[in-house]
Amino acid sequence: MNKFHTGSLIYPVDLCLNVKDLDKMVEFYNDTMGFDVITKEEKGVQMGVAGKKILSLVRPDNVIQKPPRRTGLYHFAILLPERKYLGSFINHLRNNNAPVTGGADHEVSEALYLQDPEDNGIEVYSDIPDSQWTWQGDQVNMGSEPLDFRGLMEIGKDIEWKGMPEGTKLGHMHLHVSELEEAFLFYNTLGFQRVAEMGGTANFISTGGYHHHIGLNVWNGKGADSAPENATGLRYYTLAVSGEERLENIFKRLAEKNYYVTSEEGVLYTQDPSGNRIQIEIA
Ligand SMILES: [Fe+2]
Repeated sequence: MNKFHTGSLIYPVDLCLNVKDLDKMVEFYNDTMGFDVITKEEKGVQMGVAGKKILSLVRPDNVIQKPPRRTGLYHFAILLPERKYLGSFINHLRNNNAPVTGGADHEVSEALYLQDPEDNGIEVYSDIPDSQWTWQGDQVNMGSEPLDFRGLMEIGKDIEWKGMPEGTKLGHMHLHVSELEEAFLFYNTLGFQRVAEMGGTANFISTGGYHHHIGLNVWNGKGADSAPENATGLRYYTLAVSGEERLENIFKRLAEKNYYVTSEEGVLYTQDPSGNRIQIEIA
């Protein structure tokens, strides 16, 4: 299912993490997550699938561990092209005794959760066909039922794990923010609509009727500060839009509302009101 990460939408394509131990992180994302190394330099490594960048790892000077209770990454979510690959990935993790922190059937997707060695949250998921999603008006129903581990492992058992399959992408970002409505208004300016809310502490937003391209929550506390620039965790993430005109429109809308935005060589640099840094590029 590719229609929610293409065309006239705005959607996440890659992210960059600040890391302490670059070698250990590259090893984890290579061996456990099954990403390829695309480019490797002393202070930074680009990784992805089938030559397409999904994750950059950068070791900043004087890097520090991210302090607790800050805004930033809750998890990034890797979208697999088919359900059977989620089964294959689960079998691969089991064969390698890799720790899994949880799993859930969300009615729109089936998701597995884990943490990387520097405590960044990762989700790996596959979408249930959108024809099976249910809506109440413009709000999508998302639950959290037990994941069918047994069924997934069965469907994946004949697929030999050779890393993430072609077509794997960054499906969504889930961020800690300091204030929900303030964050929503910023993302709404970019073009995102609210498609689900959870208990007044989380919002799920998307374009084009996806179940969510971005999750926003205040689970690290309302009014949480952003992390220092040299802290581990999210450095920035990238959103893609289809063309130059759309990029220019976004620049104008952000500037009109006095949000921070600059432009350099066809890339917009901005940040949400919680200090989560964003690059916006033409797909
Ligand atoms: Fe998620």
